[in-house]
Amino acid sequence: MIRDLSLAQDNSAPAVAGASTGAGNMVTVEGAEALWKQVAMARRRGHRIAFVPTMGALHEGHLSLLRRARQLADWVVVSIFVNPTQFAADEDLDAYPRDHRRDAELLAAQGCDLLFLPAVDTIYPPGHSTFVDVEGPSRGFEGAQRPGHFRGVATVVTQLFHMVQPDVAVFGQKDAQQLAVVRQLVRDLHLPVEIVGAPIVREADGLAMSSRNVYLDPAQRQAATVLSRALRRLEAHLAAPGDEARQATAIEAFIARLIAAEPLARLDYVAVVDARTFEPLSQAEGEVVIALAVRFGPTRLLDNLHLTLQ
Ligand code: PAF
Repeated sequence: MIRDLSLAQDNSAPAVAGASTGAGNMVTVEGAEALWKQVAMARRRGHRIAFVPTMGALHEGHLSLLRRARQLADWVVVSIFVNPTQFAADEDLDAYPRDHRRDAELLAAQGCDLLFLPAVDTIYPPGHSTFVDVEGPSRGFEGAQRPGHFRGVATVVTQLFHMVQPDVAVFGQKDAQQLAVVRQLVRDLHLPVEIVGAPIVREADGLAMSSRNVYLDPAQRQAATVLSRALRRLEAHLAAPGDEARQATAIEAFIARLIAAEPLARLDYVAVVDARTFEPLSQAEGEVVIALAVRFGPTRLLDNLHLTLQ
């Protein structure tokens, strides 16, 4: 972890060169130097730093991460960076929703202290050639469906951790495999940052909040509630005594049957995995994730159930 903050100046004014103050007291910075100065000032003032990395298009799920971060530290940094390296070749980076002005207003209203809004060249300057590949939990599922995705995530998260130098970082449990990859990365690289997983935030009808939900047409949107309904029914089913229901094959068949009953849904995968390694399990035991990916037309939605079973 880079701790050389020699560029920093102690400055009691809220903003430094390259930084601007918007709504509330939130400061927005775009460049690495301006970020380092802000981080150094926060450190000198004795703040504990929490960090929430995002790709923008913020919804209530992201804001819940920010609120969790506020409980964990007294200075909260949020980044918005649509990371090109985590988009697979067949995914449309340009079509990813971007509305930085609206995002900044939401963050300021929720008490974000610093918004880091880097340009692509800041994160990947010309000639950039260092990438971070986390094996183990990156294999399979989203890793198999989206080649290179977790390499891009691990690379940008490592860079952002070095730049922001947080004490704690908050990630959504909805992207359970990403959370496992980030935890592995932090363990393997001995990064001094605590990783906190925050619970999935759902719409009133149970649909997990996601930036992808805007791509659903009204019929698909209605049909998409099948993910959370299936997981809820599974949870109740697993609460009944007996080992048979906990076999991975039984769990997968249980979910597959419920998803198949929804004509607009096409199951990509359902799997019972170890929450830490994302290795498939034959029996749901210990800390497990039952991970689910379902297609509605071209849109793939993820949901999962995180359980600790004795
Ligand atoms: O979960 C996301 O929004 C992204 O994968 C992340 C962690 C911000 C990295 O680009």
